[in-house]
Amino acid sequence: MTIPVLLDCDPGHDDVFAIWLAAGHPEIDLRAITTVGGNGTLAHTTHNARVVCSLAGITGVPIAAGADHPLVRALNPAAHIHGANALGGPRLPEPTLDTDPRPALELIRDTLDAATEPVVVIATGPLTNIALFLRSFPDRTGKIREIVWMGGSTGRGNATPYAEFNSWADPEAAAAVVAAGLPFTMVGLNVTHQVLATAEVLERIAAIGNRTSAFGVELLRFFNSTYEVAEGMPAAPLHDPVTVALTAVPGLVQTVHTRLDVELTGTETAGATSVDLHGTLRRPPNAHVATNVDVAAFWRLLEDAIRTLN
Ligand code: RIB
Ligand code: CA
Repeated sequence: MTIPVLLDCDPGHDDVFAIWLAAGHPEIDLRAITTVGGNGTLAHTTHNARVVCSLAGITGVPIAAGADHPLVRALNPAAHIHGANALGGPRLPEPTLDTDPRPALELIRDTLDAATEPVVVIATGPLTNIALFLRSFPDRTGKIREIVWMGGSTGRGNATPYAEFNSWADPEAAAAVVAAGLPFTMVGLNVTHQVLATAEVLERIAAIGNRTSAFGVELLRFFNSTYEVAEGMPAAPLHDPVTVALTAVPGLVQTVHTRLDVELTGTETAGATSVDLHGTLRRPPNAHVATNVDVAAFWRLLEDAIRTLN
């Protein structure tokens, strides 16, 4: 029985691999893709989603554009990591796929309404679209099986010393989604920094030998170059597809059920994810937080998925 998934993303180099893993893994039934401003402007993230779905031959998956800015803060793209167009590196071929005429919130609504069973919502960007959807369609929450988010960290941040980018970009959205009380899983930097796009990884992906893998290697070369400069990491962490791997293969990512709160008012800490791993605050647990990943199995999953694409 495949798992119905809606993917909300801000492609973004690592978002692309989340799209490809969701489209290529046999256990995942990718029903829809929605885009959000984050790594780049909404125009760029939406265009990039169309490009990488067209290139990989992913058809029958509607792509709809969502929020072009966070709930209350200004959009702050990560051009230093993802480039000016949010997908720096290779020349982007003209997409053959168009966007769906519906705005993202309507596509999410219709996807949930059409599903005969609850849908897993995977979010790999700021949670703006998901927060807006829960606010606009509270009567649909019963059709969401779980929200799996790449964001936050049990430790240090990357956008600021204490805040991870997706959480920092729209902390109000993250706090609202957590507060909604739906089954919520957070895959943070403490785990995604274990899946690094090393030279060996690039060699294995290049050896797949299809158009998707060749494009993917060019993306990773760029991503590695900017991570080297920005973070002193010669191999970039491929954050976003870990959420898809967690969904596709139970146990591949270990989680603990614990307390998660998002800092909103800190001058230096806005967007920090406070994960109370030891129950210090004695608050009821409200999230499943990732603590470890089977790194070798993750890469096998991703390479096998890319192998199924164009
Ligand atoms: O901090 C990493 C996250 O921020 C990833 O989702 C990356 O794509 C960026 O959106
Ligand atoms: Ca992302």
